Amino acid sequence: MPAASLDSLASMVQAARRVVVFSGAGLSADSGIPTFRDGATGLWNNVDPDEVASIQGFLRNPRRVWSWLLELKALVDDRRPNPGHLAIARLEELCAASRFTVITQNIDGYHALAGNQDVLEVHGTIHRVRCHRHCGYASSWDQTASEPFACPDCGAPVRPDLVMFGEMLDEEVFAAAQACSLNADVFFCVGTSFTVQPAAHLPVWAKYSGATVIEVNPHPTSLSEAADYSIRSGASQFFSALCSRLASD
Ligand code: APR
Repeated sequence: MPAASLDSLASMVQAARRVVVFSGAGLSADSGIPTFRDGATGLWNNVDPDEVASIQGFLRNPRRVWSWLLELKALVDDRRPNPGHLAIARLEELCAASRFTVITQNIDGYHALAGNQDVLEVHGTIHRVRCHRHCGYASSWDQTASEPFACPDCGAPVRPDLVMFGEMLDEEVFAAAQACSLNADVFFCVGTSFTVQPAAHLPVWAKYSGATVIEVNPHPTSLSEAADYSIRSGASQFFSALCSRLASD
């Protein structure tokens, strides 16, 4: 793997017409939101995702899923986007790309809050609830809604508007994410372990469609070998340094 200097990466970004940033939980770690699989603090190392984040779990015991996700939402609402999010929003301004898209697996809404315009939330959002039957009812998730409730329009259960284990992704959102990946010139992957399909396939499509794939992660992952560059760095440090380099031109 060639070592990539900040200068060479900055040149790649400046020359790119379409840039994608694909993000995972590691990007929000600096905001104080635990990742899912990192050591002792990983959420799934402390609770069974089937019990608190799967559709079977929700239909079995909606209160358990609702209260666990509401606790996570309270933490997300209490924290803010970190320098990594802010630098990725700044990167959109600094690069001359005709298309700059963030594809995120994260449900915290921090990319939009930081200022990115084109964000595809392939795993949905913790800030909205919707009718489980997709009748059209949806509303922002106000923390006072502490108990699951029936859809006011059709009576089906209302549930958080995020993709639970055992569910398909929103077809339209994922098709847009796939199209961006297939057309990207530069494809950053930041803060993800590439554990969950089909999202984890997006960088592979990008790579084989000719994009330069740049991974940003303090630890190696299953994508590190296939990536063109695998930067052993935290998200905040790397993207802040890249923006400083681009702004100095
Ligand atoms: N900067 C960059 N990467 C980091 C940082 C950081 N500061 N801190 C941790 N990481 C990396 C870890 O090394 C790890 O590879 O972030 C990754 C987090 O991996 P996961 O916890 O598995 O999170 P993610 O890849 O987003 O999980 C994917 O799994 O549970 C589902 O739906 C959930 O969207 C989630 C999906």
